[in-house]
Amino acid sequence: TTTSAKTPRSQPRGGRARAAIAAKTLRTDRWWFAPLITVVGLSAWVIYATVRVFMHKWYWVEQYHYLTPFYSPCVTDRCVEGSSHFGQFLPGWWIIPDAALTLPFLLLFRLTCYYYRKAYYRSFWLSPPACAVPDGHQSYSGETRFPLLGQNLHRYFFYAAAIISLINTWDAILAFHSPDGFGFGLGNIILVGNVVMLWAYTISCHSCRHIIGGRLKHFSKHPMRYKAWTGVSWLNVRHMQLAWITLGTLALTDFYVMAVAAGWINDLRFIN
Ligand code: FES
Repeated sequence: TTTSAKTPRSQPRGGRARAAIAAKTLRTDRWWFAPLITVVGLSAWVIYATVRVFMHKWYWVEQYHYLTPFYSPCVTDRCVEGSSHFGQFLPGWWIIPDAALTLPFLLLFRLTCYYYRKAYYRSFWLSPPACAVPDGHQSYSGETRFPLLGQNLHRYFFYAAAIISLINTWDAILAFHSPDGFGFGLGNIILVGNVVMLWAYTISCHSCRHIIGGRLKHFSKHPMRYKAWTGVSWLNVRHMQLAWITLGTLALTDFYVMAVAAGWINDLRFIN
């Protein structure tokens, strides 16, 4: 239904005012649980990732060519030999991450993602924390002003993220390595699993769905795009799960590479 532009928000059509309710919310369920675990989960991940990207060690396993996604592509002249699959064309400087060229795009891709927006608007910004729970702020301007107006750039960050997923895929292929040539270990399963999930998350993006199937008048005249759109739509309804799964696989992959690189554990090898 549409509401007249002149109708006050608290006064629905028909002229009947809303019931005056003194309570902040009438919800009695645990509506605060989802925002709470979102804050805990996202904060934990951001702290871990921040520590890791500024650590500058244990990101490359020379023996098996495992590279953590947090340092990919490693493009500075201080990257460990062998870890730079795309050259070392930037000077390493201070504590700036060695993948500083791509990390901001990945960050912006996630920050402007439709799902993460919902997640952090509700949890960190309490705007609103849940359905039928009042906003934590007096005024609401939505995404109509700077800086939130920048959320519209998400479609462009999607292209950057797709390129970075290609880079991660290349890293995972090069990791089928051992000192004897071809090699295969638990690290490969983790790296490939991470890349598959990253692709699933990237492809399930709402912008991707629009790129694939948007602006068409007749699906019947574009059977290939319709088929692709159906597949993307199937993934798209799982976008939230994929957003969390990929945070998990990224952290797990990084931790595993760190643990092997630091010598805390040995990679479980199946071939060589
Ligand atoms: Fe989430 Fe695009 S909507 S990545």
